[in-house]
Amino acid sequence: MKEKIKTYTEEVEKFKADSLEQLEAFRIKYLSKKGIITALFTDFKNVAAEERKEMGQLINSLKQAVQEKIVLLKDSIDQKINSTGSSLDLTLPGESEIGTRHPLSIVRNEIIDIFSRIGFSVSEGPEIEDDFHNFTALNFVKDHPARDMQDTFFIEKDPDILLRTHTSSVQVRVMQSTQPPIRTISPGRVFRNEAISARAHCIFHQVEGLYIDTDVSFADLKHTLFYFAKELFGEDTRTRFRPSYFPFTEPSAEMDISCNICGGKGCNICKYTGWVEILGCGMVDPNVLENCNIDSQKHTGFAFGMGIERVTMLKYQINDLRLYFENDIRFLKQFEATN
Ligand code: DAH
Repeated sequence: MKEKIKTYTEEVEKFKADSLEQLEAFRIKYLSKKGIITALFTDFKNVAAEERKEMGQLINSLKQAVQEKIVLLKDSIDQKINSTGSSLDLTLPGESEIGTRHPLSIVRNEIIDIFSRIGFSVSEGPEIEDDFHNFTALNFVKDHPARDMQDTFFIEKDPDILLRTHTSSVQVRVMQSTQPPIRTISPGRVFRNEAISARAHCIFHQVEGLYIDTDVSFADLKHTLFYFAKELFGEDTRTRFRPSYFPFTEPSAEMDISCNICGGKGCNICKYTGWVEILGCGMVDPNVLENCNIDSQKHTGFAFGMGIERVTMLKYQINDLRLYFENDIRFLKQFEATN
């Protein structure tokens, strides 16, 4: 019996397990009701009285060795499972994903670049505005129907504090603080109370442009925007101006570019007209100049405003505005090469 116990003890010492299944088989072999330890205790009944003490101790230390071995092996198997990822190990370093610039930032930077090459600076203003800068100074008289066209998010009423509905508010701030010549563009976020869909969002981005000096004419406006369209959409791009209305410009126009998808032949993006609208513009209304303390007898100017989402949609053929805000990595990764 002594020999038997010695062999078992050696076996237990040498035993190794790679899986919990092997370890369980080991436990059953030694510790179950029909296992080796139980069998040894059964044999123990027949052991001669003088050997009992020693045998009892040997069997008990074998049992203890088996139990210790099981605890030890279980720990190391658990650790192995964790580090091979079949269960979470929060101490592991994360997989690194190199960030890419957002398409709206790419296009905004490109617009800034194009205008800075012809002497425009960049100016910014607050997203939370008062009624004066967003509406009144821009010639929207109280109860002007055009105020309804821009579904405003109001923060406070009387006096009205609101989220700016367009970046035209920045031109007011620039004119108030700077005397002409002024040549600036103002990119920024704007807010309108619109239901979110593929074609509308309650948060979007605009770039406002403003040029004020002596003798600025509509010809300057047309040529500046023609230059811009060719720089952004390619040398073959053509432009056309359609009469329009904005309270802060007179005359006002909307500018279309020849469809950059079909080259003007007609497709579903341009609704088979060959043209797509990209911005609103016009000569700054003398009332606006006066509201901002600029002498309208001495100075004239032009302004324009465009949606960055819209321009980006045309440039990259993106057909759903919501993609810009969802930050789906599969969408963003497509702009990697453009950075
Ligand atoms: N603020 C106008 C809008 O949000 C866009 C715009 C049109 C800006 C004409 C201008 C402009 O500066 O001259 O729809």
